Parts: sequence; C-alpha cells; structure tokens
Amino acid sequence: MRTITVHASQTYPIWIERGLLAQCGALLRKQTKAQTAAVITDDHVDAIYGDTVVQSLEQNGFHVLKFVFPHGEASKCSTTLNQIYDFLCENNITRTDCLVALGGGVVGDITGFAAATYLRGLDYMQIPTSLLAQVDSSVGGKTAIDLPGGKNLVGAFKQPVAVLCDPDTLQTLPKEFLADGMGEVIKYGMIRDAELFALLEQHTLENVAEVMEEIIATCIDIKRDVVEHDEFDTGERMILNFGHTLGHAVESYYHYETYTHGAAVAAGMCMMAEKTCAAEIYQRLCNCVASYGLPTSVEAPMDQLVPLCGNDKKRASASLRFIVCETIGAAQIRTMPFGEFAVWMGGTRA
Ligand code: NAD
Ligand code: GLY
Repeated sequence: MRTITVHASQTYPIWIERGLLAQCGALLRKQTKAQTAAVITDDHVDAIYGDTVVQSLEQNGFHVLKFVFPHGEASKCSTTLNQIYDFLCENNITRTDCLVALGGGVVGDITGFAAATYLRGLDYMQIPTSLLAQVDSSVGGKTAIDLPGGKNLVGAFKQPVAVLCDPDTLQTLPKEFLADGMGEVIKYGMIRDAELFALLEQHTLENVAEVMEEIIATCIDIKRDVVEHDEFDTGERMILNFGHTLGHAVESYYHYETYTHGAAVAAGMCMMAEKTCAAEIYQRLCNCVASYGLPTSVEAPMDQLVPLCGNDKKRASASLRFIVCETIGAAQIRTMPFGEFAVWMGGTRA
C-alpha cells in the first residue's frame, strides 16, 4: 500500500492500493475513536460499493448508518445538505462520530461541507470512487455546495482525517467520467510533471488502466505539494486552475450540458496553450488530449467565451488571474486587467 501524508492544518494519510475498499473499516479505525460512522453516498455508488464499505466498517466495531441521495451535480445543493443534517440529527450523531464520503466529487464535496458545519465540525473520511475525486477533489479540503447562482458558492476548507483510494473502483466508472478525470490528470502533467505527461502520451483511454495506480499516486502527490504550500488558496494553489478559466466559460456557454467539466478544461488548456506555447508543445498537448477522447477546441466563438471568463464570483477585482504553461511541466500565474485579457485572447472587451 502506498501512503502519501498531507501536512496541512490537519495531517492525514492518503492510502492508495487496488482492492483497498474492503479494508476501509480497519484503516479508519486507526484514525478515529468514533463509535458511529455515517456513510454518505449516491445511489449509483451505493448499489456497487455500499455493502462492502458498510460490512468492513461494522467488522471493525463501528455502528454504521447510511444516507443515500440521487447521483449527479443537481444533488450538490442546500436541499440535500439539509436532508443530511436532518439525518445526522435524527440519528443523534455527535461531534465524536464521523462521516464517510463514499463516491465521486459530488458526494465528497457535500459530505465534507456537512462535516465542516454540522455541530461546528466533526471528522470525515474520503473514499473517492471517480477518477476526478481520486486525483483532485478528495485531497486538499475544499468542500462546497452549489447555489442556483453558481457552482461551489458556499463552502469551507475542511481537511479529512484520511483518504482511501482504491483504483479498482474505476473499473465500474462509465467511460465518459473516466475521460473527464483524465482532463485533470493531463492538467497535472502540464503544470508540474513532464514525466507524467510523457507517460500519458504513451497511453490512450483504452489502455491507461495499466498504469492507473502510478498515475493516481503521482497526481495526488502533486496536489499534496501544492496544498501544503497554499492550503487556503491565496497563491500557488491557483496553478491547479490551468485550463479552468476558459473551461468554466465553455461549461457556462453550453449551460453545463454539452461538455463535462474535464472536457471543458481540456479544451480550455488547449486554447490557452495555442496562445502561449511553441507550436510543437501545443501540438503535443492537443494529441494527448485527443487520445483520451477529449476536445481540443470548441465551436463557441472566443468573443462570446471571453466575457464568461469574468463570471467567477470569487474574482478578486477587475483583473483576471489565469494560468499559463509555456512548457510542459511548469505553470505560471498571470494577472491582466480584464479588458486587456479580452483583447489578448481575441475576444471583444467585456
Ligand atoms: P460525480 O460525483 O457526480 O460522479 C460522476 C458519476 O459517476 C456519478 O453518476 C456517480 O454516481 C458515478 N460514479 C462515481 N464513482 C463511480 C464508480 N466507481 N462506478 C460507477 N459509477 C461511479 O462527479 P465527479 O466528476 O466525481 O466530481 C465532480 C464534482 O467534484 C463537482 O461537483 C466539482 O465541483 C467537484 N470538484 C471538487 C474539487 C475540490 O477540490 N473539492 C475539485 C474538483 C472538482
Ligand atoms: N481543484 C482545485 C483545488 O483544489 O484547489
């Protein structure tokens, strides 16, 4: 078993190994004195992995409760959150009990936020089952729900007590979501790791499973390093947003229907690289993105995308901060007045 330890406001292990899910009870037992573990999951994941997790927790002395909500981003909302609070209250969950997030990023984000806020905070463990959740959302302590006015607008930083990552769970993940997660994986190669990028170039969506455990561990370690330097997202952590400025604009332009997040980020990375990289690097990125079934560009005209880049409510000022990678493996944060960015990207001034 590989263990990566995150040293943030809370120090915690990330365990990575194929088949680890069935050991979650024994591993969590080492991290908490909780008597009750409340598993929060969605209906898809529950149907495949719910029993394994509940059994393992029970065998290791936990009293186990389970709350299941419908899968999908639409569930990452205040209605589901209130249902989780009610469930915890009805079952007399105390601050010394713990939550277990079993699922993709939606489950992880809402469970983490419930853990940050219920009774002013209790322990939670992440068991990510989608690629995106394994390489990104389960690590680093960002938790959130969406509002009708935008994604992730209410949230908190709350580190888990442990993350358990079983790459075997990806065998049941629909291919669309595997490709989606690969968008973020390619991003890690671009921002920090030319060797990872080269490994990705040697594989495709069809055979990447052969090296998945190594890829996951590499990505998690990059995220660990970034989070340790900037847990609260005031500087370096922004490099994780490479491809996201244009990617968010793409998602928003197509009303979150046409492109998954990872696909939009992939297109966003390529569009940014076209502006900032040498032709050979831009081409390598496009080839890599395409070999994982992801788009390298979108039909939406740049002059309509650029104004949407500014629709981030977390934006500090009239300036836009965005990430560029001039070479593979190195990212820089750039700041530009928004109007200048519009002209530079080839859009009209917003
Ligand atoms: P998701 O949680 O909706 O999972 C995608 C789909 O895959 C769902 O239908 C789910 O039921 C299913 N699924 C998950 N694991 C499965 C498995 N092993 N087998 C079969 N089906 C499985 O979406 P996601 O892509 O995992 O995460 C997206 C969310 O993550 C977004 O809400 C995004 O805002 C958030 N996010 C958070 C962070 C962070 O730092 N907190 C970072 C990136 C993304
Ligand atoms: N996914 C971006 C971050 O964790 O900061």
